[in-house]
Amino acid sequence: MEIVIAGSPRKGMYSDRLASSYAEARNAEIIYARDVKASPCRACGWCKGKGNGECVQKDGMSDVLSRIRKADALAVFSPVYWWQLTAQAKIIIDRLYAMTDEEWNGKLLTVVVNGAAEDDDREFAILREQFEEMAHYIKADLRFLGVGTTDDAAFEKAAEKVRKLF
Ligand SMILES: Cc1cc2nc3c(=O)[nH]c(=O)nc-3n(C[C@H](O)[C@H](O)[C@H](O)COP(=O)(O)O)c2cc1C
Repeated sequence: MEIVIAGSPRKGMYSDRLASSYAEARNAEIIYARDVKASPCRACGWCKGKGNGECVQKDGMSDVLSRIRKADALAVFSPVYWWQLTAQAKIIIDRLYAMTDEEWNGKLLTVVVNGAAEDDDREFAILREQFEEMAHYIKADLRFLGVGTTDDAAFEKAAEKVRKLF
């Protein structure tokens, strides 16, 4: 089973459309980060100690965490905001710190970021490198795609590239 995190605050726009076509084609469950009522990670360390993998904060992330733990694949779709993911997506990723090495091990991690820049912009190389490091750390298999969605024509090319991930 695969979980798709849709990280855009903009309903039905480029990132949402890429995420929903991907989720539909792969029969994955989609979670809209903008609807998840979750606080940022507090770095309290509870999950790595007494919590034994459980997060001390009981909020909208509790359900998201338990679904991602059970999934064998996770996909994150997010627009690029200031060379990074959206805050909505980042809160969820940070809270995944509660997952154990065993829960991560071997999961397929797909990351699709879209921005107003051209496909060959350095921002996508920077983001790719970050996720390569993260995937290496959690021992996940990474598929990364950075695409420009400057306008509808660019979006069509991006959608075609996403279809190759189906
Ligand atoms: C706060 C903010 C920061 C942004 N920063 C970047 C950026 O660093 N690089 C980029 O290519 N686009 C940037 N953009 C543009 C969005 O990534 C782009 O409009 C994208 O299509 C939004 O995705 P959406 O259609 O799913 O909302 C930014 C937009 C906002 C609102």
